[in-house]
Amino acid sequence: MIAALVRGLVLLSLASAIGGLVLGLLFPASAAPDLDVARARLRRWVATCLVILLVATWAELLVRTQAMSGASLGASVAAVPSVLAGTHFGQILAARGAAVVVALLLSAERSRAFQAFVLLVAAGIALSVSLTGHAADWGDVTLAVAIDWAHAVAASAWTGGLIALALVAGRREAPWSRESLAVVVPRFSRLAGLSLLAVAVTGGYNAWTQLGRVARLSTTTYGRVLIAKLAIVAVLVWLGAVNRYVLVPRLAPSSAARGVGARVFRIARLAVLGPSRGAQAESRVVGYVTVEALVGLAVFACTAVLGEVTPGRHVTFERKTTTHVAPLGRSGVAGPRPGTVTPPRGDVERGRAIFARLECATCHAVPDPSFVPPTRPGPDLAGIGARHPGELIESIMNPNAQILDGPGYTDERGLSIMPDYSDRLTVGELSDLVEYLRSFERAAPPATEQAPAGERQP
Ligand code: HEC
Repeated sequence: MIAALVRGLVLLSLASAIGGLVLGLLFPASAAPDLDVARARLRRWVATCLVILLVATWAELLVRTQAMSGASLGASVAAVPSVLAGTHFGQILAARGAAVVVALLLSAERSRAFQAFVLLVAAGIALSVSLTGHAADWGDVTLAVAIDWAHAVAASAWTGGLIALALVAGRREAPWSRESLAVVVPRFSRLAGLSLLAVAVTGGYNAWTQLGRVARLSTTTYGRVLIAKLAIVAVLVWLGAVNRYVLVPRLAPSSAARGVGARVFRIARLAVLGPSRGAQAESRVVGYVTVEALVGLAVFACTAVLGEVTPGRHVTFERKTTTHVAPLGRSGVAGPRPGTVTPPRGDVERGRAIFARLECATCHAVPDPSFVPPTRPGPDLAGIGARHPGELIESIMNPNAQILDGPGYTDERGLSIMPDYSDRLTVGELSDLVEYLRSFERAAPPATEQAPAGERQP
């Protein structure tokens, strides 16, 4: 929890600094008085963010040292020098601290060249964040780290820039002129569009490597937080699009975004939201930017949580090896597989009683009216009788040998939620249970009275 907070603070302060620097570089060179005020304010903002980043880096060092040593927070302070000198992580954080101090000293300088250099240093600091995150689990600077870094820089320029823009353009006491808005906001919009592209590509790669399998989007905490993050980003993209294609063109109808895309979007938005009139274009633009900045903060919260949650790829499959099914011919998870074991024929009625006693129906729907529908996740067993009995045995005695994919079918570790019944059944009971399942030949309810076990001999 504290670790996630600290990491969130690191990400947020770094992104705000990067965004502020980027925004400053987007300002036109010509000196408008309102932009000069904004420039000075941006420099102060960047410096504030860097100071917070320095403090957060120190806190991260403490929190991680404590996690490594297991000692109390006080005792961990004593261990900090050895972590700094002796661990890879400590060296990276030391380098980050030094870089933050350099950036802080240079950030007061007004010239664009200096500001651009500080931006480079900040990008280097972002690399140190990637190097201490999940992407670096495999080693040093790898492709995964490079892509995670690109993701961080692009996302920072976008969301951090939004925060900075909301802060400097949204001031009541020093409102921007229509001209300044009409120059800076479209420039920033274009940058945001490019960043979005980069964020989508690199984020897709990250999700793929960290998650490993699409099903883990819904079965792991990491996947669920990722979905939440994507939903929030979608809201952000929508707000940005409204701003860029609907509001900004009103500032300077002659120069702003036109084109087919803009027109299609405007019509679509008109259809959804209806015409919006009344409020002044300037204040609407600024208002949208402020809302976008707030939504951006929510994205950071998700990112910080993702940094502390075990990635989906770490989900282990401690499956026991299969014993009752030939290893060859395991085509699909749910496909028929040749069994190597066939139990003696059992009794359907006794099997039904065992099915009831072991409460299998709490998770499984069965084509048998004597059971109520299940309340917990599990596959419908209608038609299961078509499988080889060896496969049915395996499903009951060793559920993790082959795990069927489905919503809620697996737990946090990726193991089946179905209990292992191998120590709760005698061979006779197992035969009866399998006989009962074999009666689910078709989806139709079995007429067990007319089909006693004896008649079903092959
Ligand atoms: C806690 C819920 C739960 C209970 C209780 C449970 N199961 Fe399952 N069962 C599952 C889930 C989830 C799966 C799919 C995941 C897997 O392959 O293990 C499954 C899979 C199966 C399968 C394989 C289905 C297929 O299409 O491959 C069979 C057969 C089965 N269960 C039979 C039983 C029987 C018989 C019992 C009672 C002795 C039982 N289950 C009890 C949850 C449960």
